[in-house]
Amino acid sequence: MINSTVYTYQVDTPGRSYPVHVGAGLLTTLAPTLIAELGRGSRVAVVTHPGLVAKYAAPLCEALKLEGADCILSTIPAGERTKTLATVAKLYDDWARHHLDRRTIIVAVGGGVLGDITGFAAATYLRGVAVVQVPTTLLAQVDASIGGKTGVDLRAGKNLVGSFHQPKAVIADPEALATLPFRELRSGLAEVIKYGIIFDNLLFASIKDSLPAMLRRDAACLLPAIARCCEIKAQIVSEDETEQGVRAILNFGHTIGHAVETATHYRIYKHGEAVAIGMVSACLIGEELGITPASVTSETMAALQLAGLPYRLPNEISSEELLAHAAHDKKARNGRLRWVLAQSIGTTCVQSDVDNAIVLKCLQKQRDL
Ligand SMILES: NC(=O)c1ccc[n+]([C@@H]2O[C@H](COP(=O)([O-])OP(=O)(O)OC[C@H]3O[C@@H](n4cnc5c(N)ncnc54)[C@H](O)[C@@H]3O)[C@@H](O)[C@H]2O)c1
Repeated sequence: MINSTVYTYQVDTPGRSYPVHVGAGLLTTLAPTLIAELGRGSRVAVVTHPGLVAKYAAPLCEALKLEGADCILSTIPAGERTKTLATVAKLYDDWARHHLDRRTIIVAVGGGVLGDITGFAAATYLRGVAVVQVPTTLLAQVDASIGGKTGVDLRAGKNLVGSFHQPKAVIADPEALATLPFRELRSGLAEVIKYGIIFDNLLFASIKDSLPAMLRRDAACLLPAIARCCEIKAQIVSEDETEQGVRAILNFGHTIGHAVETATHYRIYKHGEAVAIGMVSACLIGEELGITPASVTSETMAALQLAGLPYRLPNEISSEELLAHAAHDKKARNGRLRWVLAQSIGTTCVQSDVDNAIVLKCLQKQRDL
């Protein structure tokens, strides 16, 4: 049976208030009407990957045309390695060729990579045009599409160029996950597990129970889990748009996660897989500092194992190299890393005075798990 429930959450930031809609079938039902209404006669520029045109972006364009919108479609190649300024420049060129003006609505149809690139291009084209995020990966639905962080990677590290550019709306349709490669689904589950650890022990407990069903893409389990993650992210972003405080907890697992991705040149690990490894690093560091109970580490590892996610540190990357990459992370302050550590399942704290020797010891431990 198709679940027709639509969950809507509001993100309220000082500059913009917008809805996050989550529901099965929204790509064909709500998306065309809402986007056409937001555009009110202006042009709509859909951006997607070539592999998502036939199934998602072209039908959306057709439906937008039926709603009276003048729709153009651009494609950019997929993959984290394309998250560069060169890809942003390609979008600028495409949009300029079509003479898009400041009233244009840009629509990002894809995963977190596409949403981040397109959001950044929208933030900067003509000093800023509106964007609607239509996330089609689990990771982008629960995390990347909400909150306005946009940007691209540099060789020196992830997301080093970017801006805050809140979307006009987020429309997440879990039915799009039917075509998502299995490994991408698992990668997204890492962020779902993260929400449980940082914010909601009940969510964590329910995820543990429903992981096998979620891996089978059981909509009855996926939809409420996605919706709860969106609700948490909407609440956190509304409290702290630019990460001066509570928003930092969303980076749980990302300090080492980003370092793993950078050290392996975005070739080996999916974002969620790297975050899974980073969450275990954070647990071990928290344990060493007496902040994280051992039971939290074992519960985290058990959930990651159940989801088929990695948790050991790969031997090919030295701990020193990881620390060096982490120090370049934009969240480091004066070279000091800010570690998000779990105090229990559902609560975290941020520590910025962790000795490198402790980190190195824990990373070594993580190789031997
Ligand atoms: N802005 C933020 O707040 C934020 C938060 C978390 C992560 N991120 C970023 O998100 C990125 C990772 O995003 P991701 O995990 O979605 O990966 P991704 O965007 O690379 O997508 C993964 C792959 O799935 C394909 N795909 C997407 N939707 C599909 C569908 N429905 N069916 C079939 N294939 C589909 C894509 O073409 C791509 O090949 C990273 O760059 C990370 O930094 C951003």
